Amino acid sequence: MVIAIDGPAGAGKSTVARALAAELGYTYLDSGAMYRAVGLLALRRPDVEPQELARGARIELIAHQGALAGAGAAAAVMLDGEDVSRAIRTPEVSEAASRVAALHGVRAALVERQRALLARGDWVAEGRDIGTVVAPNAELKIYLDAAPAERARRRAAEIGADEASVLAEQTLRDERDLSRDASPLRRAEGAMVLDTTGLDVAEVVARIAALVR
Ligand code: C5P
Repeated sequence: MVIAIDGPAGAGKSTVARALAAELGYTYLDSGAMYRAVGLLALRRPDVEPQELARGARIELIAHQGALAGAGAAAAVMLDGEDVSRAIRTPEVSEAASRVAALHGVRAALVERQRALLARGDWVAEGRDIGTVVAPNAELKIYLDAAPAERARRRAAEIGADEASVLAEQTLRDERDLSRDASPLRRAEGAMVLDTTGLDVAEVVARIAALVR
């Protein structure tokens, strides 16, 4: 069983997908973390073509170990054996991820890995193209959205940055995700649109869990 959750930056995809995976006992796939890992590599290795980096990189998404780890626990992101969980969340890497994600070769390499993961087991997979490209046969597709100002407000609170700069950066990334020629962000056929403006996480998770059941 695959549940695909797509939508723009800051719509609540990660929080919702993680909580939903924990509730259902499914595994959480953060596809954006893979693009971020390649974005980080591209910043470190400007001498190598990003598609080559995407093909060669060892990217592992590891569930946290320990007493609090559940099926949907936040994953550590390993890049060639290095824990880059924090390093991939900086604004510079957000920007680099959004740039490399527009390249066909990078997408082909990462989509292939994502499909291999999703081929077995139960997943809540989150990104921009899960329902359209990675898993078009997903049993349930959700398109999460929220008003731009609300998305920027949430992101700013989460990372402790000011709202205006987050909104500016978010607008740029949205623009690039929507207008790129390789797998642009759009609602997948059959996807249910859920606008999370004014809704809290528990409410959104409960609605999707009800749809699954
Ligand atoms: O979701 P997150 O913000 O972590 O993703 C980082 C960037 O990776 C996005 O801005 C988007 O450009 C790209 N991305 C993508 N396709 C996905 C997931 C992320 O193009 N499935």
